[in-house]
Amino acid sequence: MMRTMGSEVIESRFLQTCDVAAEETRIDSFTMVIFGGSGDLTQRKLIPALFFLYRHLELKKSFAILAIGRTDMDVERYRSIMEGAVREYGEELFDAASWIEFSQHLFYLAGHFEDNETFERLTEKVRQISIPTEKGTREVIYYMAVPPQSTPVIVSKLKRHALSKETFSTKIIMEKPFGRDRSSARELNKVLTDIFDENEIYRIDHYLAKEPVQNIMFFRFSNSIFEEVWNGRFVDNVQITVAEDIGIEHRGEFYEQAGVVRDIVQNHVMQLIGSVAMEPPVGFKADFVRDERIKVLRSIRPIEGALIDASTVRGQYGKGKINGKDAVSYREEGKVSPSSNTPSFFAAKFFIDNLRWAGVPFYVRTGKRMQKRVTEICLQFKQLPLRLFGRTCDTLEPNILVLTIQPNEKISLRFGVKYPYANNQIYPVQMVFSYHEAFQASFYPAYERLLADCIRGDLTLFIRQDTVEAMWELVDPIIERWESSSPCNFPNYPAGTWGPPEANLLIRAAGRDWITS
Ligand code: BG6
Repeated sequence: MMRTMGSEVIESRFLQTCDVAAEETRIDSFTMVIFGGSGDLTQRKLIPALFFLYRHLELKKSFAILAIGRTDMDVERYRSIMEGAVREYGEELFDAASWIEFSQHLFYLAGHFEDNETFERLTEKVRQISIPTEKGTREVIYYMAVPPQSTPVIVSKLKRHALSKETFSTKIIMEKPFGRDRSSARELNKVLTDIFDENEIYRIDHYLAKEPVQNIMFFRFSNSIFEEVWNGRFVDNVQITVAEDIGIEHRGEFYEQAGVVRDIVQNHVMQLIGSVAMEPPVGFKADFVRDERIKVLRSIRPIEGALIDASTVRGQYGKGKINGKDAVSYREEGKVSPSSNTPSFFAAKFFIDNLRWAGVPFYVRTGKRMQKRVTEICLQFKQLPLRLFGRTCDTLEPNILVLTIQPNEKISLRFGVKYPYANNQIYPVQMVFSYHEAFQASFYPAYERLLADCIRGDLTLFIRQDTVEAMWELVDPIIERWESSSPCNFPNYPAGTWGPPEANLLIRAAGRDWITS
């Protein structure tokens, strides 16, 4: 029996069912209300993702999408703009017949979030377009595709106009940033929990929805040969690289306020550490998995005080070349101060103080305008206690397992073999599993996966508030220290390189080196 999705063709007799397959349920009727309904996120991600779900999953005829935005336009105009967006940003070939059907479920309301009148019209519209589910509830999902400062205003209006649980069964989807530090994250959460329960709040970290990130748990806990050695007895160090070749693009204003730690480290990097280091969950219920991720974060040894300077490196890109093209320096980017000290690069050495990882350094680096775009997790294994070969010839290359999250998603294992043309030489080779070769498939894209999970009510890939706070707790002291002491050497790495030289010193101090594929 073959199973197909998009270009994917796999033999389903090889599919091994586990608890997770239970998620493959039918999607019930719902109304999604998108605040920021004509904005960039909605056009690039949300509407293309919902259209994808319409074509590939059993979205029932009874769903409705109501976009709210400031721009005054009628629904026909809105549908035509969204058609353009899906044609441009959709993951697959546009299908005009499906679009015509899908667009009938798309509605638009122009209004300002501060006005009660907008919410009066919203209430009326939601009542008109939402259809009760089989259980008799009206399922409404609010999507906050708006700048963070708008959330409290919107949530208070939802409460005032009884658009929360009194009348409907509701969920809310939140985009990062979840605050600027732990205390503001708590404030934001107070606002949300005024009308939503924790299990109605879907906080997005799109890294968790990337197929190779989801796979980490499956790969680890379904393969005895890897799980047995996934610990400090066998692993010498773990390296996580989240490198981007792009700069800050048109987001100067945002990035000046955020910097690399708030933008990437506090969320994506911490979630990657959580996924690679967690213990097996007791089951696949969302909270079982989320419990294990937060345990890792709570076990990370805090980097505070003087340790910050010894264990972290900050950087900011200067001008340089990427793929043969000139790239301007960070300080020359639009809406950036010419004397800005905002960091665009971060490297650090973390330790996880638990039985599995005691003594194993986790080296992390991330930055904009680096040599190439690559996100990778590398586990470098310890050398054998006796160097049978390494005693008389060169130092042996270590065994390395590389999980390439993007691009060219794959898992590769590096090991040594006898070089055929010599008597006693070891030659490094690798075994590679490539997602694309194995499944001839493009992935279920991140936003599609997240929206489908939210509609189904699966919180596994969403961030719980305790986790948001644990992540802030780890980075707050670093941000504080960096913001209170100006770096004297910015910009300290040219665009198109692997970051400042200090990042190499950080890892070389222990006789190790960054692994690059
Ligand atoms: C976002 C950051 O969360 O992730 C961006 O705000 C960054 O600055 C992006 O470019 C990277 O995501 P991806 O999926 O392209 O690795």
